[in-house]
Amino acid sequence: MHRRLIVPGVLAASLMLAIPASAADFTPGAPGIGDPYYPAYGNGGYDVSHYDLKIGYEPSTDLLKGTATILATTTQDLSRFDLDFLLDVSDVRVNGAEASFATSGQHELQITPAVPLAKGAPVTVVVRYSGVPSSKSAYGFSTWHRTPDGAVAADEPESAWWWYPSNDHPLDKATYDVSVSVPDGTQALSNGVLQSQSSKLGRTTFNWRENKPQATYLTTLAVGRFDITTATTAAGVPIVNAYSKDLADNYGAARASVERTGEVADWLSGYFGRYPFSALGGYVPNTTTGYALETQTRPFYSPKQFANGSNVSVIVHELAHQWYGDSVSVKGWKDIWLNEGFASYAQWLWSDSEGDGSTQQLADYVYASHPADDAFWTVKPGDPGPDHQFDDAVYDRGALALQALRNKIGDTAFFRILKGWPAAHAYGNAAVSDFEKYAEQVSGTPLAAFFDTWLFTAAKPATPAAAQLRIAAAGGAKHARPARPRSWAQIEQTHTVHKHTVHKHTIHKHTVHGH
Ligand code: TRP
Ligand code: ZN
Repeated sequence: MHRRLIVPGVLAASLMLAIPASAADFTPGAPGIGDPYYPAYGNGGYDVSHYDLKIGYEPSTDLLKGTATILATTTQDLSRFDLDFLLDVSDVRVNGAEASFATSGQHELQITPAVPLAKGAPVTVVVRYSGVPSSKSAYGFSTWHRTPDGAVAADEPESAWWWYPSNDHPLDKATYDVSVSVPDGTQALSNGVLQSQSSKLGRTTFNWRENKPQATYLTTLAVGRFDITTATTAAGVPIVNAYSKDLADNYGAARASVERTGEVADWLSGYFGRYPFSALGGYVPNTTTGYALETQTRPFYSPKQFANGSNVSVIVHELAHQWYGDSVSVKGWKDIWLNEGFASYAQWLWSDSEGDGSTQQLADYVYASHPADDAFWTVKPGDPGPDHQFDDAVYDRGALALQALRNKIGDTAFFRILKGWPAAHAYGNAAVSDFEKYAEQVSGTPLAAFFDTWLFTAAKPATPAAAQLRIAAAGGAKHARPARPRSWAQIEQTHTVHKHTVHKHTIHKHTVHGH
């Protein structure tokens, strides 16, 4: 009798202590972070500062086992919160206590802590899991790529769901420790610096650390049989590159390209300022994919990028993203021009310095290549929509907009902007509207109408707007098509090889909207 009376009393008292506000104020975190392009991506209610991932992987079976320890801070009084994840979870702890969990939607892991979490509190979440990533899909697609010797996680805008639970949106960046155990003779790569590597009982463990904030889609995991090379940039940044031993005929060209990573990073820092990270490199796994991706500090390159011989242009593109995309990340996926327009323009600058076509010649070529009724001009680089996020227009019309800006405000202001922007938003997030304000401020020129024409109008900019491209000055031959610059094939290849993404997100949209 006594006990029966005491227990509810103690419970009530402890709840009062733990929860100053009324329990009704504690609500579930949103299942998405609020990005209109991808409403279910990321989550609400907390902000992650660090991921510690301990992973074991079997290349022969594709079995992945992991323990993720996530350090976060709550941003509201939370009764429950989500992580984005697809593998099978066996156990979740929140601040050391067993938490209940369930799956929901396409990729939500719903976690209900034993005790609700007050706003502004530090939280430690431990998730134990396992699964065969290649057996999992969401919206009907998978971005996990098995190779004959292992696997690769490198995709955009999502790749984490297949290997660790996360708040999967660029708005929530965090630092990472990634420890991966694989059979001896196999390597495991990730972002940042290799802190240590050790072998025991037939398995090798690789401990990687990225000590600067990193967006989830820029994390990478690659397991396979690699040849590793190391070097140091002129600025003192350590380089680790990796080449699958099975690249066959593409091996030489891959190495002849990726080994120039340090040279290219040093060259880019002349335009964009000091390289923002503590590590550098690139890797070429034995995949059948065609694309490249700017995974932080260590871009991913498909062997196909090197099928025609060396391709330094794609190295320039992915390394340019280290400033434009990785250090300064999009606020929302609508801001993709801040990544692709600038990485493409870096390729134009490289072409210019190599004598393979000036930025002006490339601009003339792109402008003339697409007649006014080409669907190319219906894509607005400043807000392309999820189905056109990676269209040619985001890259080519995106770079064209930068050449037009340069012609409008002059080289001095233009190059001050190119270098000042990555410093102004280092390790953070920014939107296209922030860039517009910044460009107006640095150039002292009102640019609202200009950006409207080049980034936000679904039509080919005509004269007098096109005069900003100095098309008229380019020989005055109205009907002659400008010659195709030698650099064009590689610039085009950098983005046309990931056309599959467009298909992927068409599937995605259909699933979401139930067509
Ligand atoms: N951001 C990548 C690049 O510019 C290209 C890309 C777009 C991509 N969508 C992708 C790469 C999906 C891999 C998967 O190089
Ligand atoms: Zn890119």
